[in-house]
Amino acid sequence: MNTSIFGNTPLHRCDYLSSKYQCQISIKKEYFNPNQTAKDRAAWYMVKDAIAKKLIKPDDILVEASSGNTGIGIAYLAKQLGYRSCIFVTQNCSKEKLRSLENLGAKIVHCDNSNGLLDKNSTQYRAWSFAQMNRNSYYTDQYNNPENSRAHYETTGPEIWQQTSGKITHFFAGLGTTGTVSGIGKYLKEKDNGIKVLGIEPKGSILAPYKATGKVPTSDTVMEKIEGIGRKFVPGIFDTMAVDQILQVERSPTVQTALAYYQHTGMLTGFSSAAILAGLEDYCRNNTVDMRDHIVLLFADYGDRYLHSLYHSLTTKNSVYD
Ligand SMILES: Cc1ncc(COP(=O)(O)O)c(C=O)c1O
Repeated sequence: MNTSIFGNTPLHRCDYLSSKYQCQISIKKEYFNPNQTAKDRAAWYMVKDAIAKKLIKPDDILVEASSGNTGIGIAYLAKQLGYRSCIFVTQNCSKEKLRSLENLGAKIVHCDNSNGLLDKNSTQYRAWSFAQMNRNSYYTDQYNNPENSRAHYETTGPEIWQQTSGKITHFFAGLGTTGTVSGIGKYLKEKDNGIKVLGIEPKGSILAPYKATGKVPTSDTVMEKIEGIGRKFVPGIFDTMAVDQILQVERSPTVQTALAYYQHTGMLTGFSSAAILAGLEDYCRNNTVDMRDHIVLLFADYGDRYLHSLYHSLTTKNSVYD
């Protein structure tokens, strides 16, 4: 398989955002990967590692717990390389992602939540127990597999550094497994420790309080639903040193931000990318940025995956359905 199809995604300046916040803002467009998502990189590294270590053999079942995108990457690789796939998702997985998984021949298992191994109804527990019970299967385990963040440390981080000629000052990414921010943040900070790395998650997720206090919060607040990001447990691969600050955003302003961005640019954003835009708004309101700053936003996927869940809820006359 020609693996040069992964990565090397474009970084484009966004005139609308640059003029709005009076600094240079560029978007790392991860939807230029083969399955239109950043998670292709993680899937590729985790499967490559399993093959190199002879952990899988032809026709084995690759198993993953996923909000959809990693599952699509794994299912794609399984189909290309002669394996099967079984993907554990929650009810929040968008119709468009489920359709892609079906088209790739994945077996899809719907679970109650994605709250981690301590909950027997979670995607993670059920994927793990499936792999325990089926000898011919392998759990890629994106929450704990170092290959997830390594993919970003070895590919996305260097790409961003080169594409900005080392001029990047701020980097924003959404937090799900934390593989993206852990890998890219580590790489960028090794290059220049002054680069500010910002993680974005929904209100009610636990990584912001965990980063701030070093403790997992005990109160169980409801988490706002933003597909792809937000956690109720700390992923094993989370590198707290790779990120300076975690901003929490709410769903409603995120949806409004997606519409405003669409009106100004004609581009649909993924749900987590819209959350990054909402986080950027908060950040620029509370911090000084100027023309010397070069902010890079990582858009993990594109809005056509969320026509029902993100854009359908917009009922103004400017809705994309008008
Ligand atoms: C659309 C989207 N955005 C952001 C993320 C978060 O990326 P990471 O898991 O690397 O933290 C994911 C993860 O699945 C995702 O699918």
